[in-house]
Amino acid sequence: MTTSPTPPVRHAFVTGASKGIGRAIAERIAAAGGDVAITARDAGALADVAQALDAAHPGRVVGIPCDVRDEAAVHDAVRHATELFGGLDLVVANAGIGRFAPVPDLTSEDWHAVIDTNLTGVFHTAQATLPALEASQGLLVTIGSLAGANFFAGGAAYNASKFGLLGFTQALMLDVRDRGVRVSTIMPGSVATPFAGREPTDADAWKIQPEDVATLVMDLAAMPARTLPSRIEVRPARPPKR
Ligand SMILES: NC(=O)c1ccc[n+]([C@@H]2O[C@H](COP(=O)([O-])OP(=O)(O)OC[C@H]3O[C@@H](n4cnc5c(N)ncnc54)[C@H](OP(=O)(O)O)[C@@H]3O)[C@@H](O)[C@H]2O)c1
Repeated sequence: MTTSPTPPVRHAFVTGASKGIGRAIAERIAAAGGDVAITARDAGALADVAQALDAAHPGRVVGIPCDVRDEAAVHDAVRHATELFGGLDLVVANAGIGRFAPVPDLTSEDWHAVIDTNLTGVFHTAQATLPALEASQGLLVTIGSLAGANFFAGGAAYNASKFGLLGFTQALMLDVRDRGVRVSTIMPGSVATPFAGREPTDADAWKIQPEDVATLVMDLAAMPARTLPSRIEVRPARPPKR
């Protein structure tokens, strides 16, 4: 009798997965035989993506509309996914936005949108999913950024959110590792996605591709539980010369 190998991820929850990096991660999980719940704010776009991914990997993908800024909505979405799958062993806190302006021109609305999504949204996601991850001895991955290690003009809100996310994620890692929950952050440089409203073109071929970040997530999931790459910086190997 042959048995199929256990997939590296069995039940996953990925925020911000209607496009870009999150979508690529969800697709990779489903292709590897895992179940994945995907979230985003735009319910219509999310339903289209969930349907397309589920058609390619039947029964594996469910879309749950949810704004990560809304704590109660995040807890509801996580409860829904956990009940549907019977647990969660991988959570990817990926949802994020970019608004860029020098501080004198930065609106309070932009500041709060970036901090509430990129930082507080990850806090909501972590708090809502930690009980399930503790039960499964699972893995939480946050998608940070090299903007969490390198600041730049016009990046005050985004830099603050991603520097903060690095600190949050590393402290969380220390908080929960004794409970058997592994926490990692992936900090990419430029990735070819529709981030901040700009659709990628052929001119973005030099950038990291979303599926490359998905590969890193799957590598983390496949890592023996005794070993934790807690912070991964990843950058384009050959960026254009300035
Ligand atoms: N692209 C890059 O160069 C790059 C580099 C380093 C790090 N990152 C990080 O990677 C992550 C993903 O970025 P991406 O490039 O894949 O961006 P993207 O293509 O714009 O996708 C962002 C996803 O997040 C969702 N989202 C945004 N705000 C949300 C909210 N409040 N609640 C729930 N979902 C929300 C979006 O859907 P809705 O709009 O429908 O909610 C979408 O599904 C972000 O954290 C970003 O900071 C990106």
